[in-house]
Amino acid sequence: MKNVLVTGGAGFIGSNFIHYVLENRDDVRQVVNYDLLTYAGNLENLTDIEKDPRYTFVRGDIRDREAVRALFDEYGFDTVVHFAAESHVDRSIVEPELFLTTNVVGTQVLLDAAKDHWKLAPEDKYSREYRPGVRYIQVSTDEVYGALGKTGLFTETTPLSPNSPYSASKAGADMVVRAYRETYGLPVNITRCSNNYGPCQFPEKLIPLMIHNAMDGKPLPVYGDGMQIRDWLHVKDHCAAICAVLDKGRPGEVYNIGGNNERANLDIVRLILRALDKPESLIAHVQDRPGHDRRYAINNGKITSELGWKPAYTFEQGIEETIRWYLDHPAWVEHVTSGAYRDYYDAMYGAENA
Ligand code: NAD
Ligand code: TYD
Repeated sequence: MKNVLVTGGAGFIGSNFIHYVLENRDDVRQVVNYDLLTYAGNLENLTDIEKDPRYTFVRGDIRDREAVRALFDEYGFDTVVHFAAESHVDRSIVEPELFLTTNVVGTQVLLDAAKDHWKLAPEDKYSREYRPGVRYIQVSTDEVYGALGKTGLFTETTPLSPNSPYSASKAGADMVVRAYRETYGLPVNITRCSNNYGPCQFPEKLIPLMIHNAMDGKPLPVYGDGMQIRDWLHVKDHCAAICAVLDKGRPGEVYNIGGNNERANLDIVRLILRALDKPESLIAHVQDRPGHDRRYAINNGKITSELGWKPAYTFEQGIEETIRWYLDHPAWVEHVTSGAYRDYYDAMYGAENA
């Protein structure tokens, strides 16, 4: 991995990934962050490295075929790590089409550009030979597997059974990536991770939203009974796992990435309130999300045994650091929670909860 295209690098996981590779990887010579800067893209996540000569930001849309091809021509990537997506389930319920175009069509545009750029005989439709050392990583989600009951874990062979427009769009993208492997022999991997948490996460997702509201003494909107379970993964552990797949992953394979850390939403909310010394009376049970998946949990066996990765963070350490990060970055929080985000929040939860 010398010359890396990171899509969606101004978002939560993408910006953490850029920091991670610039800090930890001497083999990386160039990282290009290609991002449209939607409401979720924030260049403030990258101000500390914007002058690093290895880093370049290009604003653009993954659905823009010409722009993506020109980007490959200009920078000659050997590695693509594709994070860019519409990523929030609640938004997908009100605007499914945007999720399908960004997440499915955008992925196909990138795959085409990688295939055409990396193929040794681009005119030969039967050729499956690519430049040595190239790799495309599709950053997917455990949500493509659907919901679990009280027991069981997702493995890489669990059938895809998405329940929200978001997870359906991610599953669709995964199917397109799979087809480019089977049909064209493109060297790809799909990673399916559990819920991430950590610094720079937009406060529309559970953990930063609850930290932000608790800090302000506002109601904490818990969907339904709050007993839904997610398997929380620290974003830095996720970045390390993606690097392990880039280094050692077998082409064409899917790797699940989980934190071995199942928690009910309500337990997380209570933990945040305790850490911030706020009363539980701030918890507001609100109407449940339609199609709400009850439980996600990942079996990490394949990535740990094949690639030697395992999560390093305990949840106690990770959540404490994350809460501290939000407390220490009031300006970041203030900037991302103004403007367009405020309008979304009012539409979603009602101005009375603001
Ligand atoms: P995010 O919403 O924080 O960031 C998404 C980024 O993509 C933003 O910077 C946005 O500007 C950019 N983007 C959106 N549409 C674009 C387009 N058309 N062209 C170019 N850029 C565009 O998302 P995240 O939480 O960092 O998630 C990154 C990836 O990881 C996504 O693919 C998501 O599905 C996946 N994932 C996330 C989680 C999680 O817990 N956050 C869990 C599993 C999988
Ligand atoms: P979220 O962070 O949106 O991630 P995902 O839906 O992709 O798992 O939500 C995590 C869990 O928290 C999920 O069960 C929904 C719940 N949740 C709430 O109870 N209240 C909220 O305001 C939000 C945003 C999420």
